Amino acid sequence: QGSQKHLFTIVVLGASGDLAKKKTFPALFGLFKNKYLDRNTRILGYSRTKMDRPQFEHHISQFIKLKTDEDRALLSSFLKLCSYYDGQYDQGKDFEQLERAIVEAEQASGADARLYYMALPPSVFIPVARNLKQHNYRKDKLIRLIVEKPFGMDLESSRELAKDLGELFTEEEIYRIDHYLGKEMVKNLMILRFANVIFGSVWNRQCIDNIQITFKEKIGTQGRGGYFDEFGIIRDVMQNHLLQILTLVAMEPPVSLGAEDVRDEKVKVLRFIPPITKEDIITGQYTASEDGKEPGYLEDKTVPKGSKTPTYAAAALYINNDRWSGVPFVLKCGKALDQQKTEIRVQFKDVTSNLMTNLARNEIVIRVQPNEAVYVKMMNKEPGLGMKTIISDLDLSYASRFENVAIPEAYESLILDALNGDHSNFVRDDELDAAWKVCTPILKTIDRGEIEPIPYKFGSRGPVGVTEFVAKHGYTRSKQAYVWPQHSEA
Ligand code: BG6
Repeated sequence: QGSQKHLFTIVVLGASGDLAKKKTFPALFGLFKNKYLDRNTRILGYSRTKMDRPQFEHHISQFIKLKTDEDRALLSSFLKLCSYYDGQYDQGKDFEQLERAIVEAEQASGADARLYYMALPPSVFIPVARNLKQHNYRKDKLIRLIVEKPFGMDLESSRELAKDLGELFTEEEIYRIDHYLGKEMVKNLMILRFANVIFGSVWNRQCIDNIQITFKEKIGTQGRGGYFDEFGIIRDVMQNHLLQILTLVAMEPPVSLGAEDVRDEKVKVLRFIPPITKEDIITGQYTASEDGKEPGYLEDKTVPKGSKTPTYAAAALYINNDRWSGVPFVLKCGKALDQQKTEIRVQFKDVTSNLMTNLARNEIVIRVQPNEAVYVKMMNKEPGLGMKTIISDLDLSYASRFENVAIPEAYESLILDALNGDHSNFVRDDELDAAWKVCTPILKTIDRGEIEPIPYKFGSRGPVGVTEFVAKHGYTRSKQAYVWPQHSEA
Protein backbone atom coordinates (compact mmCIF):
# COMPACT_ATOMS: atom_id res chain seq x y z
CA GLN A 1 0.00 0.00 0.00
CA GLY A 2 1.16 3.49 -0.80
CA SER A 3 3.53 4.05 -3.69
CA GLN A 4 6.11 6.09 -1.82
CA LYS A 5 9.63 4.97 -1.09
CA HIS A 6 9.34 6.47 2.36
CA LEU A 7 6.80 6.20 5.11
CA PHE A 8 5.69 9.66 6.15
CA THR A 9 4.31 11.31 9.20
CA ILE A 10 2.19 14.19 7.94
CA VAL A 11 1.86 17.29 10.08
CA VAL A 12 -0.75 19.87 9.05
CA LEU A 13 0.10 23.25 10.54
CA GLY A 14 -2.96 25.48 10.60
CA ALA A 15 -5.25 22.47 10.97
CA SER A 16 -8.19 24.50 12.31
CA GLY A 17 -8.25 26.79 9.27
CA ASP A 18 -10.34 26.97 6.14
CA LEU A 19 -7.81 25.49 3.75
CA ALA A 20 -7.12 22.49 5.99
CA LYS A 21 -10.79 21.61 6.36
CA LYS A 22 -11.81 22.31 2.76
CA LYS A 23 -8.81 21.00 0.88
CA THR A 24 -5.96 19.40 2.84
CA PHE A 25 -7.84 16.83 4.92
CA PRO A 26 -10.31 15.88 2.14
CA ALA A 27 -7.32 15.38 -0.18
CA LEU A 28 -5.52 13.24 2.40
CA PHE A 29 -8.67 11.18 2.79
CA GLY A 30 -8.94 10.83 -1.01
CA LEU A 31 -5.37 9.48 -1.11
CA PHE A 32 -6.06 7.14 1.78
CA LYS A 33 -9.26 5.87 0.15
CA ASN A 34 -7.52 5.22 -3.16
CA LYS A 35 -4.68 3.42 -1.40
CA TYR A 36 -2.03 6.02 -2.18
CA LEU A 37 -1.35 6.59 1.48
CA ASP A 38 0.29 3.86 3.47
CA ARG A 39 -2.16 2.51 6.04
CA ASN A 40 0.45 3.22 8.71
CA THR A 41 0.70 6.93 7.92
CA ARG A 42 0.02 9.13 10.93
CA ILE A 43 -1.47 12.58 10.40
CA LEU A 44 -1.08 15.24 13.07
CA GLY A 45 -2.98 18.52 13.07
CA TYR A 46 -1.58 21.56 14.85
CA SER A 47 -3.00 25.05 15.34
CA ARG A 48 -3.93 27.58 18.02
CA THR A 49 -7.60 26.68 18.41
CA LYS A 50 -8.50 24.37 21.28
CA MET A 51 -10.59 21.48 19.96
CA ASP A 52 -11.60 18.27 21.68
CA ARG A 53 -11.57 15.00 19.75
CA PRO A 54 -15.18 15.17 18.45
CA GLN A 55 -14.71 18.80 17.38
CA PHE A 56 -11.49 17.94 15.55
CA GLU A 57 -13.08 14.95 13.81
CA HIS A 58 -16.05 17.05 12.76
CA HIS A 59 -13.80 19.86 11.59
CA ILE A 60 -11.62 17.74 9.31
CA SER A 61 -14.37 15.53 7.93
CA GLN A 62 -17.15 18.05 7.22
CA PHE A 63 -16.02 18.63 3.63
CA ILE A 64 -15.26 14.99 2.85
CA LYS A 65 -17.83 13.61 0.42
CA LEU A 66 -19.06 10.17 1.45
CA LYS A 67 -21.09 8.25 -1.10
CA THR A 68 -21.27 4.71 0.22
CA ASP A 69 -21.17 2.74 3.48
CA GLU A 70 -17.70 1.65 2.46
CA ASP A 71 -16.67 5.33 2.34
CA ARG A 72 -18.04 5.84 5.83
CA ALA A 73 -16.11 2.84 7.12
CA LEU A 74 -12.96 4.15 5.43
CA LEU A 75 -13.45 7.54 7.02
CA SER A 76 -13.54 5.99 10.43
CA SER A 77 -10.25 4.14 9.74
CA PHE A 78 -8.79 7.39 8.37
CA LEU A 79 -9.78 9.34 11.47
CA LYS A 80 -7.96 6.79 13.61
CA LEU A 81 -4.72 7.90 11.93
CA CYS A 82 -5.38 11.56 12.71
CA SER A 83 -4.68 13.39 15.94
CA TYR A 84 -4.72 17.00 17.00
CA TYR A 85 -2.47 19.21 19.14
CA ASP A 86 -3.06 22.83 19.95
CA GLY A 87 -0.29 25.29 20.56
CA GLN A 88 0.92 28.78 19.81
CA TYR A 89 2.85 29.50 16.63
CA ASP A 90 5.57 31.47 18.39
CA GLN A 91 6.18 29.27 21.43
CA GLY A 92 9.12 26.90 21.23
CA LYS A 93 7.81 24.78 24.07
CA ASP A 94 4.61 24.05 22.14
CA PHE A 95 6.67 22.79 19.21
CA GLU A 96 8.68 20.66 21.62
CA GLN A 97 5.43 19.11 22.72
CA LEU A 98 4.50 18.59 19.08
CA GLU A 99 7.88 16.93 18.58
CA ARG A 100 7.11 14.44 21.34
CA ALA A 101 3.84 13.58 19.60
CA ILE A 102 5.59 13.17 16.24
CA VAL A 103 8.23 10.88 17.75
CA GLU A 104 5.53 8.81 19.39
CA ALA A 105 3.71 8.52 16.06
CA GLU A 106 6.97 7.53 14.36
CA GLN A 107 7.62 4.85 16.91
CA ALA A 108 4.17 3.41 16.27
CA SER A 109 4.35 3.56 12.48
CA GLY A 110 8.05 3.18 11.73
CA ALA A 111 7.97 6.35 9.60
CA ASP A 112 11.29 7.58 8.24
CA ALA A 113 10.05 10.84 6.69
CA ARG A 114 8.07 13.91 7.64
CA LEU A 115 5.82 16.09 5.52
CA TYR A 116 5.03 19.46 7.05
CA TYR A 117 2.02 21.04 5.39
CA MET A 118 1.89 24.78 6.05
CA ALA A 119 -1.77 25.84 5.72
CA LEU A 120 -1.06 29.08 7.53
CA PRO A 121 -1.76 32.81 7.39
CA PRO A 122 1.24 34.77 6.05
CA SER A 123 1.87 36.55 9.36
CA VAL A 124 2.85 33.34 11.17
CA PHE A 125 4.53 31.62 8.28
CA ILE A 126 8.16 32.39 9.15
CA PRO A 127 7.77 32.04 12.96
CA VAL A 128 6.34 28.55 12.37
CA ALA A 129 9.08 27.64 9.89
CA ARG A 130 11.69 28.76 12.45
CA ASN A 131 10.13 26.71 15.21
CA LEU A 132 9.86 23.68 12.95
CA LYS A 133 13.52 23.98 12.07
CA GLN A 134 14.54 24.41 15.68
CA HIS A 135 12.34 21.79 17.32
CA ASN A 136 11.02 19.43 14.67
CA TYR A 137 13.88 18.97 12.25
CA ARG A 138 15.67 15.66 12.47
CA LYS A 139 18.70 14.85 10.36
CA ASP A 140 17.80 11.17 10.42
CA LYS A 141 14.43 11.84 8.80
CA LEU A 142 13.66 12.96 5.29
CA ILE A 143 11.96 16.35 5.55
CA ARG A 144 9.54 17.91 3.06
CA LEU A 145 7.65 21.14 3.49
CA ILE A 146 4.54 22.12 1.51
CA VAL A 147 3.89 25.85 1.51
CA GLU A 148 0.87 27.79 0.29
CA LYS A 149 0.47 31.25 -1.18
CA PRO A 150 0.54 34.15 -0.61
CA PHE A 151 4.27 34.13 -1.25
CA GLY A 152 4.65 37.82 -0.47
CA MET A 153 2.89 40.90 -1.81
CA ASP A 154 5.37 41.89 -4.50
CA LEU A 155 8.87 41.16 -5.73
CA GLU A 156 10.62 42.61 -2.67
CA SER A 157 8.47 40.94 -0.01
CA SER A 158 8.54 37.66 -1.92
CA ARG A 159 12.34 37.80 -2.01
CA GLU A 160 12.46 38.55 1.68
CA LEU A 161 10.22 35.58 2.41
CA ALA A 162 12.30 33.38 0.11
CA LYS A 163 15.46 34.49 1.89
CA ASP A 164 14.03 33.81 5.36
CA LEU A 165 12.65 30.43 4.33
CA GLY A 166 15.82 29.62 2.41
CA GLU A 167 17.90 30.04 5.55
CA LEU A 168 15.82 27.32 7.20
CA PHE A 169 14.98 24.81 4.46
CA THR A 170 16.60 23.89 1.18
CA GLU A 171 14.86 24.33 -2.18
CA GLU A 172 14.88 20.53 -2.41
CA GLU A 173 12.82 20.36 0.79
CA ILE A 174 10.31 23.06 -0.23
CA TYR A 175 7.18 22.36 -2.28
CA ARG A 176 5.39 25.64 -3.21
CA ILE A 177 1.83 24.79 -4.11
CA ASP A 178 -0.10 26.41 -6.89
CA HIS A 179 -3.12 24.17 -6.89
CA TYR A 180 -3.94 24.96 -10.52
CA LEU A 181 -0.89 22.89 -11.43
CA GLY A 182 -2.66 19.88 -9.95
CA LYS A 183 -5.77 20.25 -12.09
CA GLU A 184 -6.32 17.50 -14.62
CA MET A 185 -6.59 19.75 -17.67
CA VAL A 186 -3.57 21.82 -16.69
CA LYS A 187 -1.56 18.63 -16.34
CA ASN A 188 -2.86 17.65 -19.75
CA LEU A 189 -1.31 20.69 -21.46
CA MET A 190 2.13 19.18 -22.01
CA ILE A 191 0.61 16.01 -23.45
CA LEU A 192 -1.68 17.92 -25.79
CA ARG A 193 1.21 20.01 -27.06
CA PHE A 194 4.08 17.56 -27.15
CA ALA A 195 2.32 14.31 -27.97
CA ASN A 196 0.22 15.54 -30.92
CA VAL A 197 1.71 16.61 -34.23
CA ILE A 198 -1.59 18.27 -35.16
CA PHE A 199 -1.35 20.63 -32.19
CA GLY A 200 2.40 20.87 -31.72
CA SER A 201 3.10 22.00 -35.27
CA VAL A 202 0.67 24.94 -35.25
CA TRP A 203 1.55 26.19 -31.77
CA ASN A 204 3.30 29.39 -32.78
CA ARG A 205 2.88 32.96 -33.99
CA GLN A 206 2.66 31.90 -37.63
CA CYS A 207 -0.69 30.18 -36.97
CA ILE A 208 -2.03 31.55 -33.69
CA ASP A 209 -3.50 35.04 -33.47
CA ASN A 210 -4.16 35.33 -29.73
CA ILE A 211 -4.63 33.24 -26.60
CA GLN A 212 -7.21 33.91 -23.89
CA ILE A 213 -6.82 32.43 -20.42
CA THR A 214 -9.99 33.05 -18.46
CA PHE A 215 -10.92 32.49 -14.82
CA LYS A 216 -14.46 33.35 -13.76
CA GLU A 217 -16.16 32.83 -10.44
CA LYS A 218 -19.77 33.44 -9.54
CA ILE A 219 -19.05 34.01 -5.89
CA GLY A 220 -17.91 37.28 -4.38
CA THR A 221 -15.56 37.57 -1.43
CA GLN A 222 -18.18 36.15 0.96
CA GLY A 223 -16.88 37.65 4.19
CA ARG A 224 -13.30 36.89 3.14
CA GLY A 225 -13.04 40.50 1.98
CA GLY A 226 -10.66 41.56 4.73
CA TYR A 227 -8.07 39.09 3.51
CA PHE A 228 -8.84 39.62 -0.15
CA ASP A 229 -8.64 43.40 0.05
CA GLU A 230 -4.96 43.35 0.93
CA PHE A 231 -4.25 41.30 -2.17
CA GLY A 232 -6.79 41.88 -4.93
CA ILE A 233 -7.53 39.61 -7.86
CA ILE A 234 -4.13 40.05 -9.55
CA ARG A 235 -2.23 38.68 -6.54
CA ASP A 236 -4.99 36.18 -5.73
CA VAL A 237 -5.34 34.57 -9.16
CA MET A 238 -3.44 36.21 -12.03
CA GLN A 239 0.13 36.30 -10.69
CA ASN A 240 -0.04 32.63 -9.76
CA HIS A 241 -2.76 30.44 -11.31
CA LEU A 242 -3.06 32.22 -14.66
CA LEU A 243 0.65 32.86 -15.16
CA GLN A 244 1.35 29.23 -14.35
CA ILE A 245 -1.13 28.13 -16.99
CA LEU A 246 0.45 30.59 -19.43
CA THR A 247 3.90 29.10 -18.92
CA LEU A 248 2.65 25.60 -19.73
CA VAL A 249 0.81 26.85 -22.79
CA ALA A 250 3.80 28.79 -24.08
CA MET A 251 6.98 26.98 -23.01
CA GLU A 252 9.38 25.25 -25.36
CA PRO A 253 9.56 21.47 -25.13
CA PRO A 254 11.60 20.53 -22.06
CA VAL A 255 14.62 18.27 -22.42
CA SER A 256 12.82 15.68 -20.29
CA LEU A 257 9.79 15.46 -18.06
CA GLY A 258 12.06 15.77 -15.03
CA ALA A 259 11.09 18.53 -12.63
CA GLU A 260 14.13 20.73 -13.24
CA ASP A 261 13.92 20.47 -17.03
CA VAL A 262 10.23 21.39 -17.00
CA ARG A 263 10.74 24.25 -14.59
CA ASP A 264 13.75 25.55 -16.54
CA GLU A 265 11.49 26.00 -19.57
CA LYS A 266 8.70 27.60 -17.54
CA VAL A 267 11.08 30.17 -16.06
CA LYS A 268 12.39 31.03 -19.51
CA VAL A 269 8.90 31.93 -20.72
CA LEU A 270 8.32 34.22 -17.75
CA ARG A 271 11.64 35.94 -18.30
CA PHE A 272 10.65 36.80 -21.87
CA ILE A 273 7.54 38.70 -20.65
CA PRO A 274 7.99 42.42 -19.99
CA PRO A 275 6.07 43.83 -16.98
CA ILE A 276 2.38 44.55 -17.61
CA THR A 277 1.83 48.20 -18.54
CA LYS A 278 -1.02 50.58 -17.70
CA GLU A 279 -2.14 50.51 -21.34
CA ASP A 280 -2.44 46.73 -21.32
CA ILE A 281 -4.74 46.24 -18.35
CA ILE A 282 -8.25 47.05 -17.23
CA THR A 283 -9.58 46.40 -13.76
CA GLY A 284 -13.01 46.30 -12.17
CA GLN A 285 -14.75 46.07 -8.83
CA TYR A 286 -18.19 44.54 -8.35
CA THR A 287 -21.21 46.39 -7.05
CA ALA A 288 -24.55 44.93 -5.87
CA SER A 289 -26.43 42.62 -8.23
CA GLU A 290 -29.15 44.01 -10.48
CA ASP A 291 -31.89 42.67 -8.18
CA GLY A 292 -30.07 43.95 -5.09
CA LYS A 293 -29.92 40.46 -3.55
CA GLU A 294 -26.15 40.15 -3.74
CA PRO A 295 -24.12 42.84 -1.98
CA GLY A 296 -21.39 44.84 -3.66
CA TYR A 297 -17.72 44.40 -2.70
CA LEU A 298 -17.66 47.61 -0.65
CA GLU A 299 -20.71 46.41 1.31
CA ASP A 300 -18.70 43.47 2.67
CA LYS A 301 -18.13 44.60 6.25
CA THR A 302 -14.61 43.25 6.27
CA VAL A 303 -13.61 45.46 3.31
CA PRO A 304 -12.16 48.91 4.16
CA LYS A 305 -14.39 51.81 3.13
CA GLY A 306 -13.66 53.27 -0.30
CA SER A 307 -11.26 50.44 -1.21
CA LYS A 308 -10.04 50.51 -4.81
CA THR A 309 -8.90 46.89 -4.79
CA PRO A 310 -9.75 45.18 -8.08
CA THR A 311 -11.99 42.11 -8.03
CA TYR A 312 -11.62 41.83 -11.81
CA ALA A 313 -8.64 42.26 -14.10
CA ALA A 314 -7.90 41.65 -17.76
CA ALA A 315 -4.32 42.07 -18.96
CA ALA A 316 -2.54 41.50 -22.24
CA LEU A 317 0.92 39.96 -21.93
CA TYR A 318 3.51 39.49 -24.62
CA ILE A 319 6.24 36.88 -24.78
CA ASN A 320 9.13 38.37 -26.70
CA ASN A 321 10.63 35.23 -28.11
CA ASP A 322 10.73 33.74 -31.54
CA ARG A 323 7.71 31.50 -31.07
CA TRP A 324 5.35 34.12 -29.63
CA SER A 325 6.51 37.59 -30.57
CA GLY A 326 3.41 39.75 -31.24
CA VAL A 327 0.85 37.21 -30.00
CA PRO A 328 -1.25 38.64 -27.16
CA PHE A 329 -1.89 36.37 -24.19
CA VAL A 330 -4.95 37.89 -22.57
CA LEU A 331 -5.39 36.86 -18.94
CA LYS A 332 -8.82 37.57 -17.47
CA CYS A 333 -9.97 36.85 -13.95
CA GLY A 334 -12.81 38.00 -11.82
CA LYS A 335 -15.15 37.32 -8.94
CA ALA A 336 -18.94 37.82 -8.81
CA LEU A 337 -19.42 37.17 -12.52
CA ASP A 338 -22.16 35.48 -14.55
CA GLN A 339 -20.49 32.05 -14.69
CA GLN A 340 -17.93 29.84 -13.05
CA LYS A 341 -15.36 28.62 -15.53
CA THR A 342 -11.66 28.41 -16.25
CA GLU A 343 -10.55 27.88 -19.82
CA ILE A 344 -7.74 28.39 -22.28
CA ARG A 345 -8.83 29.57 -25.71
CA VAL A 346 -6.31 29.46 -28.52
CA GLN A 347 -7.58 31.49 -31.44
CA PHE A 348 -5.99 30.92 -34.84
CA LYS A 349 -5.45 33.43 -37.62
CA ASP A 350 -7.94 34.12 -40.41
CA VAL A 351 -7.95 31.84 -43.42
CA THR A 352 -6.23 33.83 -46.16
CA SER A 353 -7.83 32.43 -49.30
CA ASN A 354 -11.00 34.03 -50.63
CA LEU A 355 -12.59 30.76 -51.67
CA MET A 356 -15.35 30.91 -49.10
CA THR A 357 -17.09 33.59 -47.15
CA ASN A 358 -18.59 33.77 -43.70
CA LEU A 359 -15.72 31.96 -42.04
CA ALA A 360 -14.94 31.96 -38.35
CA ARG A 361 -11.48 31.46 -36.88
CA ASN A 362 -10.42 28.05 -35.63
CA GLU A 363 -10.16 27.77 -31.88
CA ILE A 364 -8.79 25.12 -29.58
CA VAL A 365 -10.51 25.41 -26.24
CA ILE A 366 -9.23 23.64 -23.17
CA ARG A 367 -11.93 23.73 -20.56
CA VAL A 368 -10.23 23.40 -17.18
CA GLN A 369 -13.43 23.51 -15.15
CA PRO A 370 -16.25 22.73 -14.85
CA ASN A 371 -17.02 20.08 -17.51
CA GLU A 372 -13.41 19.24 -18.41
CA ALA A 373 -13.02 19.15 -22.16
CA VAL A 374 -10.83 19.87 -25.14
CA TYR A 375 -12.73 21.02 -28.20
CA VAL A 376 -11.74 22.43 -31.52
CA LYS A 377 -13.98 24.90 -33.27
CA MET A 378 -13.74 24.42 -37.01
CA MET A 379 -15.53 25.20 -40.23
CA ASN A 380 -17.55 22.48 -41.83
CA LYS A 381 -19.96 22.19 -44.72
CA GLU A 382 -23.47 22.58 -43.51
CA PRO A 383 -25.01 19.18 -44.25
CA GLY A 384 -27.47 19.24 -47.10
CA LEU A 385 -27.66 20.67 -50.56
CA GLY A 386 -25.48 23.68 -51.22
CA MET A 387 -22.04 24.71 -50.02
CA LYS A 388 -22.76 26.76 -46.96
CA THR A 389 -20.20 26.83 -44.17
CA ILE A 390 -21.05 26.27 -40.55
CA ILE A 391 -19.00 26.39 -37.34
CA SER A 392 -18.80 22.92 -35.90
CA ASP A 393 -16.51 21.17 -33.44
CA LEU A 394 -14.41 18.17 -32.56
CA ASP A 395 -15.39 17.71 -28.98
CA LEU A 396 -13.57 15.69 -26.35
CA SER A 397 -15.83 16.18 -23.37
CA TYR A 398 -14.54 14.12 -20.51
CA ALA A 399 -17.92 13.24 -19.05
CA SER A 400 -18.94 11.38 -22.20
CA ARG A 401 -15.53 10.15 -23.36
CA PHE A 402 -14.21 8.92 -20.02
CA GLU A 403 -17.37 7.73 -18.35
CA ASN A 404 -16.98 6.61 -14.74
CA VAL A 405 -13.45 7.93 -14.52
CA ALA A 406 -13.02 9.97 -11.39
CA ILE A 407 -10.96 13.08 -11.96
CA PRO A 408 -8.67 13.54 -8.96
CA GLU A 409 -8.82 16.71 -6.92
CA ALA A 410 -5.87 19.04 -7.55
CA TYR A 411 -4.74 18.79 -3.94
CA GLU A 412 -4.74 15.00 -4.02
CA SER A 413 -2.54 14.99 -7.04
CA LEU A 414 -0.10 17.52 -5.58
CA ILE A 415 0.20 16.01 -2.11
CA LEU A 416 0.91 12.67 -3.78
CA ASP A 417 3.63 14.33 -5.90
CA ALA A 418 5.19 15.78 -2.74
CA LEU A 419 5.14 12.37 -1.03
CA ASN A 420 6.81 10.92 -4.11
CA GLY A 421 9.41 13.68 -4.19
CA ASP A 422 8.30 14.99 -7.59
CA HIS A 423 8.76 18.77 -7.83
CA SER A 424 7.55 19.21 -11.41
CA ASN A 425 4.13 20.57 -10.48
CA PHE A 426 5.44 22.91 -7.79
CA VAL A 427 6.71 26.43 -8.25
CA ARG A 428 10.49 26.88 -8.05
CA ASP A 429 12.02 29.95 -6.36
CA ASP A 430 13.26 31.55 -9.58
CA GLU A 431 9.90 30.93 -11.24
CA LEU A 432 8.13 32.77 -8.44
CA ASP A 433 10.61 35.61 -8.73
CA ALA A 434 10.06 35.91 -12.49
CA ALA A 435 6.26 35.89 -12.05
CA TRP A 436 6.48 38.72 -9.52
CA LYS A 437 8.67 40.73 -11.91
CA VAL A 438 5.89 40.65 -14.50
CA CYS A 439 3.23 41.84 -12.05
CA THR A 440 4.95 44.04 -9.46
CA PRO A 441 5.16 47.38 -11.35
CA ILE A 442 1.46 47.35 -12.27
CA LEU A 443 0.51 46.26 -8.74
CA LYS A 444 2.38 49.26 -7.37
CA THR A 445 0.56 51.56 -9.79
CA ILE A 446 -2.75 50.07 -8.65
CA ASP A 447 -1.79 50.27 -4.97
CA ARG A 448 -1.04 53.99 -5.44
CA GLY A 449 -4.62 54.36 -6.63
CA GLU A 450 -3.59 55.35 -10.15
CA ILE A 451 -5.88 52.87 -11.86
CA GLU A 452 -9.53 53.30 -11.08
CA PRO A 453 -11.44 50.00 -11.10
CA ILE A 454 -14.50 50.10 -13.35
CA PRO A 455 -17.66 49.12 -11.45
CA TYR A 456 -19.57 46.06 -12.69
CA LYS A 457 -22.69 44.44 -11.35
CA PHE A 458 -22.52 41.22 -9.32
CA GLY A 459 -23.52 38.43 -11.71
CA SER A 460 -22.64 40.36 -14.88
CA ARG A 461 -19.98 39.59 -17.51
CA GLY A 462 -17.54 42.04 -15.97
CA PRO A 463 -16.74 45.72 -16.45
CA VAL A 464 -17.87 47.61 -19.52
CA GLY A 465 -14.94 47.75 -21.87
CA VAL A 466 -13.77 44.14 -21.51
CA THR A 467 -15.19 43.14 -24.89
CA GLU A 468 -13.41 46.10 -26.54
CA PHE A 469 -10.23 45.28 -24.60
CA VAL A 470 -10.06 41.69 -25.83
CA ALA A 471 -10.97 42.83 -29.35
CA LYS A 472 -8.17 45.41 -29.26
CA HIS A 473 -5.84 42.56 -28.37
CA GLY A 474 -6.83 40.47 -31.31
CA TYR A 475 -9.75 38.33 -30.21
CA THR A 476 -12.35 38.12 -32.95
CA ARG A 477 -15.86 37.06 -32.08
CA SER A 478 -17.37 35.01 -34.91
CA LYS A 479 -20.30 36.47 -36.79
CA GLN A 480 -21.92 33.06 -37.00
CA ALA A 481 -23.66 31.97 -33.85
CA TYR A 482 -22.06 29.02 -32.05
CA VAL A 483 -23.03 27.23 -28.88
CA TRP A 484 -20.75 24.56 -27.48
CA PRO A 485 -23.18 21.64 -27.22
CA GLN A 486 -21.92 20.66 -23.76
CA HIS A 487 -22.38 24.06 -22.27
CA SER A 488 -23.17 27.63 -23.18
CA GLU A 489 -20.17 29.54 -24.54
CA ALA A 490 -21.18 32.84 -22.89
C1 BG6 B 1 -7.55 30.43 -4.71
C2 BG6 B 1 -7.96 31.86 -4.56
O1 BG6 B 1 -6.16 30.34 -4.88
O2 BG6 B 1 -8.19 29.85 -5.83
C3 BG6 B 1 -9.48 31.96 -4.42
O3 BG6 B 1 -7.35 32.40 -3.41
C4 BG6 B 1 -10.16 31.23 -5.56
O4 BG6 B 1 -9.89 33.32 -4.39
C5 BG6 B 1 -9.59 29.83 -5.71
O5 BG6 B 1 -11.53 31.17 -5.27
C6 BG6 B 1 -10.16 29.12 -6.93
O6 BG6 B 1 -9.80 27.78 -6.92
P1 BG6 B 1 -10.71 26.66 -7.60
O7 BG6 B 1 -9.94 25.43 -7.50
O8 BG6 B 1 -11.99 26.65 -6.81
O9 BG6 B 1 -10.96 27.13 -8.99
